[in-house]
Amino acid sequence: MSAYIPGLEGVVAARTRLSHVDGQNGVLIIGGMPLETLALSATFEEGCFLLWQDRLPNAAELAALKARMVAARELPGATMDLLRGAAAVKAPVIDALRMAVASLSLDDPDPESETLEAQQRRAERIVARCPIIVATYDRLLKGRPLVAQRPDLGHAGNFLYMLTGEEPDPAARRALATYFLTVIDHGMNASTFTARVITSTRSDLYSAVTGAIGALKGPAHGGAPGPALDMVFEIGTPENAEANIRARLGRGERLMGFGHRVYKVRDPRADVLQEAARRMNEAAGDARLKDLYQLATGVEATALRLLEEIKPGRNLKTNVEFFTALVLHAAGLETDLFTPCFAIGRSGGWSAHCLEQMADNRLIRPSSEYVGPMDRPWVPIEDRA
Ligand code: ACO
Repeated sequence: MSAYIPGLEGVVAARTRLSHVDGQNGVLIIGGMPLETLALSATFEEGCFLLWQDRLPNAAELAALKARMVAARELPGATMDLLRGAAAVKAPVIDALRMAVASLSLDDPDPESETLEAQQRRAERIVARCPIIVATYDRLLKGRPLVAQRPDLGHAGNFLYMLTGEEPDPAARRALATYFLTVIDHGMNASTFTARVITSTRSDLYSAVTGAIGALKGPAHGGAPGPALDMVFEIGTPENAEANIRARLGRGERLMGFGHRVYKVRDPRADVLQEAARRMNEAAGDARLKDLYQLATGVEATALRLLEEIKPGRNLKTNVEFFTALVLHAAGLETDLFTPCFAIGRSGGWSAHCLEQMADNRLIRPSSEYVGPMDRPWVPIEDRA
């Protein structure tokens, strides 16, 4: 029997062509190309096609995919009822997304089919609908009238439009598409592993993506960008950074947006998102956003210095979440939408991993090491303390 490895660190649990994470050198390859190439050039739909089909689409294929994803935007009536019920008790957005994705099987045109084509269409419909769910729910939560989708807008642009009801700013659209692509896939992270485990039981895609959202929402995975931005706001001015961060580390707190299980150098996604945040803040011409960008880069530098001083040798560097917060904030999104936006982007990767797992499946069923007693005596209930 092999040795127990806490957190399965270093254990290879799958073979994939979807992404490669080189944590020592800070390199991320997605669908065969460097992250920077994909995230700054592609539309989100192109990135999904690349992962689902293992090649870039031609113009006709991309147009057909976009048309199918637009056609899938209307949510089942039962999903709408569920979202209204969740809004009535003010459930967090990420919980509403998890529940709503589970309900999307209700209008699957061919729920029993397990053909590759049916699974691919299912993947397209789930991915197409995640932003619709989030935008619809956000408006329900705020008691605002719902906004009909705009078929002429792509995945990122339509999401912004349905959230705000206003023509989306081109710089914000591009920044959001870059963000979705930046997080579309990332090796065998916890939520992707969850999706593959569920798929390996020959369960369905809806269950796999629902489970993945549950895994994503924890602060050790996708729940960090909101708190990262809160920290920057709390610090407020560059002069406060040192005292504030020192106090946090002194209390044993973890700095959100720093550290990573795999990256021991700066997360390459942080570079792409920092550049996206910088471009957007410049394009916006909004002095508050420029100040926030300056403040955040100052906070980052102080945090890195103090992490090295207080946690020497742990190689705690900036992760994707720190600049996620800046990009999404500059795009006008509130912090409760940050983790749901992560899920919107990652749904492309989750679904692709499910398709990959289905194509060459073996039930994922690791072992455990029993550390309990072997001879516990049975005590009748009336005799128990
Ligand atoms: N701030 C302060 N100290 C930290 C941080 C941090 N952000 N991250 C790790 N450490 C310290 C730990 O306290 C520990 O110190 P010790 O050796 O004195 O006990 C040491 O570094 C090693 O920590 P581990 O928990 O073993 O590291 P692990 O690989 O399990 O954790 C994780 C990775 C969960 C991401 C961690 O760095 C963390 O909690 N970061 C903050 C939350 C965050 O940013 N999450 C988003 C991750 S990115 C993503 O999933 C998309």
